[in-house]
Amino acid sequence: MSPPDHAETPEPDQGEAPGAAGDGIVVAPMRPRHLQGVVALEAATNARPWSERLFRDELRMPASRHYLVALCDHVVVGYCGLMATPDGGHITTLAVDSEVRRAGIASRLLLVQLRAAVERGLTAVTLEVRITNRPAQELYRRFGFAPGGIRRGYYQDNREDALIMWSHDLDLPEQEARLDSIEAALRSPLVALEPTEPTRRALR
Ligand SMILES: CC(C)(COP(=O)(O)OP(=O)(O)OC[C@H]1O[C@@H](n2cnc3c(N)ncnc32)[C@H](O)[C@@H]1OP(=O)(O)O)[C@@H](O)C(=O)NCCC(=O)NCCS
Repeated sequence: MSPPDHAETPEPDQGEAPGAAGDGIVVAPMRPRHLQGVVALEAATNARPWSERLFRDELRMPASRHYLVALCDHVVVGYCGLMATPDGGHITTLAVDSEVRRAGIASRLLLVQLRAAVERGLTAVTLEVRITNRPAQELYRRFGFAPGGIRRGYYQDNREDALIMWSHDLDLPEQEARLDSIEAALRSPLVALEPTEPTRRALR
């Protein structure tokens, strides 16, 4: 899998390359140094892309936000965000570079994200997805999300409706088993960097 152009400078203390296995995808906490790659991918993916500043602001709220990147040779090839609310988790964003789709990268991100949600004590996660976005809906369905309603005209670029999806009972053994079987079907082992201790402390 060859990474696209917007390569970041590797940081030797990160241990990403040694930790990589198989196709070399590593899921890691999103950091400011990843934002150049994230914003480039965001601009290529969304009609109304989030700005770097917006991502930066999100990263400043680790108590209620959890952002991940998927890296291939230190290049951002995907990202996923989660916001914790009193009603549960909310997937705020998910995207994978169009050059490397259908290789299980979104699945890796969601596996780590949903397990992190459970670690935070969240038992339900919701999201909005364009009503015409069948690939994403199919992905979420595999992860146990089910339709829960429609938000009319939710997307400002074309007034498209959003399908609201929910995954409940994240902490139940059935859901754990679902995630384990998705992980077992990946074509190479899931490699995920743990947050550092200061980040863990900020989350408590
Ligand atoms: C949706 C998206 C994140 C999927 O990323 P991905 O890395 O290609 O997804 P994965 O390879 O992990 O796919 C896992 C499963 O999801 C489903 N899926 C993914 N893409 C699909 C497609 N184009 N058509 C049908 N099913 C699809 C399949 O069940 C797939 O499993 P399979 O490949 O074994 O059949 C990616 O297409 C993307 O970035 N799209 C644009 C942004 C977007 O729509 N984000 C979601 C906003 S709510």
